[in-house]
Order: sequence, then structure tokens, then C-alpha cells
Amino acid sequence: MNSKIIQITSKETLPIRHQVMWPTKPLDYVKLPNDDKGLHYGLFLDDTLISIVSLFIKDEEAQFRKFATLENYQGKGYGSLLLNEIIQVAGKKSLKRIWCNARTNKMDYYKKFGMVVTDSTFRKGGLDYVIMERIF
Ligand SMILES: CC(C)(COP(=O)(O)OP(=O)(O)OC[C@H]1O[C@@H](n2cnc3c(N)ncnc32)[C@H](O)[C@@H]1OP(=O)(O)O)[C@@H](O)C(=O)NCCC(=O)NCCS
Repeated sequence: MNSKIIQITSKETLPIRHQVMWPTKPLDYVKLPNDDKGLHYGLFLDDTLISIVSLFIKDEEAQFRKFATLENYQGKGYGSLLLNEIIQVAGKKSLKRIWCNARTNKMDYYKKFGMVVTDSTFRKGGLDYVIMERIF
């Protein structure tokens, strides 16, 4: 199957954000107030969108949010392709760092991408998070 990563609209990210990340909440819960300022990327397998992530650039820093792969396609390397792509995008923009609020169960996953744990942690929506970053 043919895979490609392209920029998409925030609206296109919503079904996967909802289904994969917060299926028990209303759809509006996965919309972000600054979605219109984000760069949204999707990985398509042939014509099917299966993995998404959104990048928000501010003050020479990029934050990625709402990273998700459809359940049936997880664990096959697609999310890694997408994450590598946006780390490259951020790196090319001469930013200082890329960071994310990582669900703590994803800490080891993000470490594979050169991201390190900071000492900022919090709890939201019943889940534990830690801020992880990669300095360029
Ligand atoms: C986090 C998430 C987006 C990763 O997407 P993904 O497409 O499954 O990512 P990958 O397939 O590249 O990597 C997932 C795992 O499969 C492994 N993997 C990668 N390629 C693989 C392959 N070809 N065959 C088998 N395993 C593979 C990775 O090493 C990784 O292992 P780990 O979880 O033990 O670190 C996905 O798990 C997801 O949507 N989770 C729910 C939402 C979520 O938690 N989002 C992140 C919030 S911080």
C-alpha cells in the first residue's frame, strides 16, 4: 500500500482525534481553540487517512498535539513516520525546541525520537501527563 504524509485541515483531524483519543466525550471536546493557527498533518494509506498530528508554532517553539493513529493501524510504524516528519518540519524552521504534553504511558515511545522528560507533570481528564521536549 502507498503511504504519504500531507498537510490537512483541522476539520479532517477531528474524526480520528475523537475516535482514538476521547471516544466517550462529545466531538467538540477534541477541537482546540487555536486549531486554525495549527499545521495539521495526516498519513494516508492509499486514500484512507489513518494517522494525524497537529503542530503549533509559537515563540520559536513547536508544540505537537493530538497525535493519533486509527486503532487497527497502530504498532505498524505509521505514527513514527508522521512524528519524524513533523520533527523535521520543526527542525527546518530554526526553532529552539519541539515539545508535547505526553500521556505518561507514551513516555518510552517519545524517547525513541530524542525527546526527554522534563520535570513538569500534570493530570487532566483522568490521565497523567509529562512535558517532553527535544532541543534543536
Ligand atoms: C501514540 C500513537 C499515535 C502511535 O502511533 P502508531 O502508529 O501506533 O506508532 P508506531 O506504530 O510508529 O509505534 C507504536 C509502537 O509500535 C512499534 N513499531 C513501530 N513500527 C513497527 C513495526 N513495523 N512493527 C511492529 N511494531 C512497530 C513502535 O516501536 C512502538 O512501540 P512502543 O509503543 O513499544 O514504543 C498511537 O499509539 C495512538 O494513537 N495512541 C492513542 C492516542 C495517544 O495516546 N496519543 C498520544 C498521546 S501523548
